[in-house]
Amino acid sequence: MICINNDKRFNKISLKPKTNYQMKLTIKILKWTGLLLSLLIIGVFAFVQLTWNKKYDIALPNIQATTDSAVIARGKHLAFGPAHCISCHVPMNQVKDAENGKIMPLSGGWELSIPPGTFRAPNITPDMETGIGKMSDGEIARSLRYSVNKNNGCVFPFMPFQELSDEDLIAIISFLRSQAPVKHKVEPSELSFLGKAIMAFGLIKPEAPKRTPPKSVEIDSTIAYGSYLANSVANCNGCHTERDFKTGAYIGTPFAGGTHFLPDNFTEGYSFVTPNLTPDQETGIMANWNETAFINRMRGGRVHKGTPMPWAIFARMTDLELKAIYRYLNSLDPVNNKIEKIVFAPGEAFTK
Ligand code: HEC
Ligand code: HEC
Repeated sequence: MICINNDKRFNKISLKPKTNYQMKLTIKILKWTGLLLSLLIIGVFAFVQLTWNKKYDIALPNIQATTDSAVIARGKHLAFGPAHCISCHVPMNQVKDAENGKIMPLSGGWELSIPPGTFRAPNITPDMETGIGKMSDGEIARSLRYSVNKNNGCVFPFMPFQELSDEDLIAIISFLRSQAPVKHKVEPSELSFLGKAIMAFGLIKPEAPKRTPPKSVEIDSTIAYGSYLANSVANCNGCHTERDFKTGAYIGTPFAGGTHFLPDNFTEGYSFVTPNLTPDQETGIMANWNETAFINRMRGGRVHKGTPMPWAIFARMTDLELKAIYRYLNSLDPVNNKIEKIVFAPGEAFTK
């Protein structure tokens, strides 16, 4: 390469003209580097396209729905309350109503567009064409417990229900089957190239239960039941523990808060940071409430516009459930983790 540079500022570093031979060599090297880079890019592209849609060989759990009315009632309570299936599996124009506490069929449609793709919550009423009519109980159970979908692919990690008890999984599926079928076609989720790359490189893969899920859990206002609700049903833990943005991996102490929710199509431009739910006197928010005050707050509904926490849906939890959660949160080790600010207005820069 010949570099003629008359600018005085560059005199000191200007390169000397190279010999013919040097020039040829440089061009050759550049050519080969370019070729190798292109090949690498094509290689990665082909690898991603060919391998993102991995199939997982996971046996169907032995879970069978029943028509027992008490079991269906339990499933309905979970779906519209603590397990909050209704916060996503409803049409987009009804998401607000669902969040405000309306009951409606779980006919799907909620859509979230994020860099890895556009994700849509399907119709989970028993309609044969557009719903879960053709999925077996085992297939639905496997979606929820192992995040493997009906086509043996990976279910994107929106549903942390891996450790639901057998009894509650049966209750939820029994309830889903008992609904009136609603014809409502929801297009499948679509991954962007980034989403496919995340799958191809195995950064997200089906999540299996970390421990054998219990057969049943005793429903009582105990720390044990509170732990089950907060960790395996209501996902308090998933939002109130700091997570890595790109992979969703947990990086903070459980329940010590700090996850930052970026603005999305549901938050009306606001962004949020979750508060610390451990019983730390100085930095936790549990110190503000006794049991009754906590229950009242959980029933009190949304205070901040656009918050991702499904307040009105959680308000359906029974006194017993809220007591259990209160006792569980207070049984945790206090963690000193000051969350400076919970709500950021549209356009306001996020600071930590
Ligand atoms: C935070 C939103 C959210 C919540 C809460 C939620 N889902 Fe989903 N669900 C989704 C999304 C998004 C998909 C599609 C995922 C994908 O395409 O990978 C989905 C997929 C499904 C599927 C289809 C899986 C398959 O094999 O194709 C079933 C069944 C399902 N959800 C049931 C439930 C039930 C039951 C609940 C409550 C216990 C629930 N969901 C709660 C968002 C949610
Ligand atoms: C989808 C994410 C999400 C889930 C699930 C979630 N939270 Fe939250 N929570 C938030 C966010 C964001 C805030 C801060 C904004 C607000 O107060 O709404 C918050 C705030 C709170 C507050 C403080 C309210 C106040 O007035 O200061 C309490 C208490 C709370 N959550 C308890 C819980 C419990 C208990 C659960 C499980 C039953 C839970 N959260 C599940 C996201 C979530």
